[in-house]
Amino acid sequence: MQNSEEEKFRARRLEITDKGKGFIELLQQLSVCDSVSDKEFEDRFGEIESLGDDHVICVIEDEISGKIIATGSVFIEKKFLRNCGKVGHVEDVVVDSSARGKQLGKKVINFLTDHARCVGCYKVILDCSVENKVFYEKCGFKQKEVQMAMYFV
Ligand SMILES: CC(C)(COP(=O)(O)OP(=O)(O)OC[C@H]1O[C@@H](n2cnc3c(N)ncnc32)[C@H](O)[C@@H]1OP(=O)(O)O)[C@@H](O)C(=O)NCCC(=O)NCCS
Repeated sequence: MQNSEEEKFRARRLEITDKGKGFIELLQQLSVCDSVSDKEFEDRFGEIESLGDDHVICVIEDEISGKIIATGSVFIEKKFLRNCGKVGHVEDVVVDSSARGKQLGKKVINFLTDHARCVGCYKVILDCSVENKVFYEKCGFKQKEVQMAMYFV
């Protein structure tokens, strides 16, 4: 990517004004996400912000359109294992359908894994569909073990 592209597509932390820039609509491309009121957004944003570096949501804003076109999050789990080690859990990675294939997904993952490394995690893990396995391999992940899930709703 050239320098101008780098500036145009800078990864940064979620800001409270990003709701008005299509952040929720972007998440709707990933999974069920009903409309979120401004109050609900502000409340949840405050909860996440209060966790500081333990819960980081990364976004990329298209500086031209002013829209959020990529996102992903990392949650830092504190353990007793591994000498009170920490593990980063990557979730909710999505790139706007019109912006895929431009290395933005990789940029989001790099931002999240850099963060996890900086705060002292010994590993970062995530679950993904078979279709996205190669994407995550290209981001440096390796397949390990089996995903299990129990949904309550
Ligand atoms: C998966 C997703 C996040 C990838 O984002 P993206 O910005 O299009 O990916 P990038 O351009 O950063 O791709 C990085 C590399 O992975 C490859 N890649 C991306 N998606 C791929 C896929 N589904 N299968 C195989 N390779 C893929 C790219 O070709 C690129 O390879 P290169 O570095 O050799 O050129 C995006 O397609 C998406 O949002 N999908 C829908 C939501 C989703 O499934 N999210 C993941 C939840 S686990």
